[in-house]
Amino acid sequence: VKRITTNTLQKMKSTGEKISMITAYDFSFGKIFDAAGIDVILVGDSASNVMAGHETTLPITLDQMIYHASSVIRGVERSLVVVDLPFGTYQGNSKEALASAIRIMKETGAHAVKLEGGEEIVESIKRILAAGIPVMGHLGLTPQSIYKFGTYTVRAKEEAEANKLRSDAKILQESGCFAMVLEKIPALLAKEVSESVAIPTIGIGAGRHCDGQVLVMHDLLGINTEFKPRFLRQYLNMHEQVTNAVKHYIKDVKDRDFPNEQEQY
Ligand code: KIV
Ligand code: NA
Repeated sequence: VKRITTNTLQKMKSTGEKISMITAYDFSFGKIFDAAGIDVILVGDSASNVMAGHETTLPITLDQMIYHASSVIRGVERSLVVVDLPFGTYQGNSKEALASAIRIMKETGAHAVKLEGGEEIVESIKRILAAGIPVMGHLGLTPQSIYKFGTYTVRAKEEAEANKLRSDAKILQESGCFAMVLEKIPALLAKEVSESVAIPTIGIGAGRHCDGQVLVMHDLLGINTEFKPRFLRQYLNMHEQVTNAVKHYIKDVKDRDFPNEQEQY
């Protein structure tokens, strides 16, 4: 199999082929998504929400991200695997940022890391890139800053914040990032940014003009049913299907239907 690399994504932007990205947190789903042909698998710190049940992404640790990422990697043959640096492992100190990124690369076998923010973290980004580790940026609604925002509503609707995002996008490109996620910003702003930078933009709630799209697997597959933002297209109702399957199993056990004569030794 021909592996997807950061160069492949750059080529996709040039030829206009949209980039598909999904999150995964374990071996089994990583293997399914890779075999299905997804371009990029993100081991997101959304694991804090959907795997661990926390309200925010802040509590997840680097060790926990490494566990998820190393599991995903064992199921992947073709996709590019990107891993989030969790909250508190890169913001204040670029040497700590590099140490965190190195741990992810060495201990998981992943191909790139993702960091939230622009100008504030440019030193960390540059130091990681100088070590030869590809970096994906992340602008807009950056969930590690949720207590600064105070709300999960659309970001950069006001001109000041939009201008900061425009300038951060340029900074990420000039630092050498290979791509950037744009989360929950107006479609027009995402279009403008996507056209103004040469590196691919991957949108989530950022409209149709981004160079690619990303969704959290639990949202796309309908495992999570309480979370229904406008930007989400749900491709399966796994919550309902799994509930029905398990109810059926319970009934079969209670009814002494399972196991039957053929299902025993
Ligand atoms: O952690 C995550 O799932 C993400 C995506 C939503 C971009 O960062
Ligand atoms: Na994330």
